[in-house]
Amino acid sequence: MRQPRVFVTRLVPEAGLQLLRERCVVDVWPGELPPPRAELLAGTREADGLLALLTDPIDAALLDACPHLRVVSNMAVGYDNIDVAAATARGVLVGNTPDVLDETTADAAFALLLAAARRIPEALAYVQADRWQTWGPLLLLGRDVHHATLGIVGLGRIGQALAARARGFAMRIVYADPTRKPAVEARLGIEHMSFTELLHASDFISLHAPLTDATRGLFGATAFAQMQPTAILVNTARGPLVQTDALVAALRDGVIGGAALDVTDPEPLRADHPLLALPNCLVVPHIASASQQTRARMAVIAVRNILAGLRGASLPAGLNPAAQGTGRTATPSDYTLDESSQ
Ligand code: DGY
Repeated sequence: MRQPRVFVTRLVPEAGLQLLRERCVVDVWPGELPPPRAELLAGTREADGLLALLTDPIDAALLDACPHLRVVSNMAVGYDNIDVAAATARGVLVGNTPDVLDETTADAAFALLLAAARRIPEALAYVQADRWQTWGPLLLLGRDVHHATLGIVGLGRIGQALAARARGFAMRIVYADPTRKPAVEARLGIEHMSFTELLHASDFISLHAPLTDATRGLFGATAFAQMQPTAILVNTARGPLVQTDALVAALRDGVIGGAALDVTDPEPLRADHPLLALPNCLVVPHIASASQQTRARMAVIAVRNILAGLRGASLPAGLNPAAQGTGRTATPSDYTLDESSQ
């Protein structure tokens, strides 16, 4: 009997890798960029487990080309890069890393909101360009955050963590979500609204919805036209929730006041992209969960998903429990895994 093989598609925090190396034969893609498709296939072809990132498309063709694969664990809470239905159909377990990144991502969303409202990147550029001559009564005026209205689109765990922060700034908080959450409304003192009402009411709108067929392109010209001309859009969810060309036009023509984006479409954004020429648009490179502590926790959960899947147990953070014991996970494995692995 052999040890199980696991392919890891990028160097991830050592806390997770060490756990994996103690029990499995581990191949880590060494590149700074994601493995190209051919390398992803080559690395996964003999693997029993795959630790993937949101930059790795995991589709039916890949699952078919990798017949030993029993578990795919995404080191992210979002999993729109994985065809979960295709995995379920083949009895491949899929996991993600929820919960541990909620507070860190909410910190980043609120940091972006504050930075855009108070024009911090523009102010830094102004000082760096040696343009600071005196205190100016009209210099770099921004928008008040305190007592303003924050609209949260998608009141999951991260949206709720953002609301908790906004309460400290005495903001009025409204949300739109297909599922109304009365207990959360009462706990956080927030109001439910329709999407259209939220667009009209909000000074700041922060996106916390997953990318699905229903949310793709949610923010386009029609939505922007219903927002306040001073409103600021914050996106730490997924770039394709926003139609990029429509956002460029809305920011350029003053239809909305500004945007602060951790995620974009396309991603990455090249330096000559029109969004980056707009002074009212702040872009950072998909770093909302990027604290040392959180990324280490994400790596450990991702690895625990892999180890559980290799043992045939339910994943600590599983997305398709129905796949367990079906398809290829119904057949005995030809490896042994240290029983102490949890
Ligand atoms: C996620 O987890 O989905 C984020 O986009 C990266 O942390």
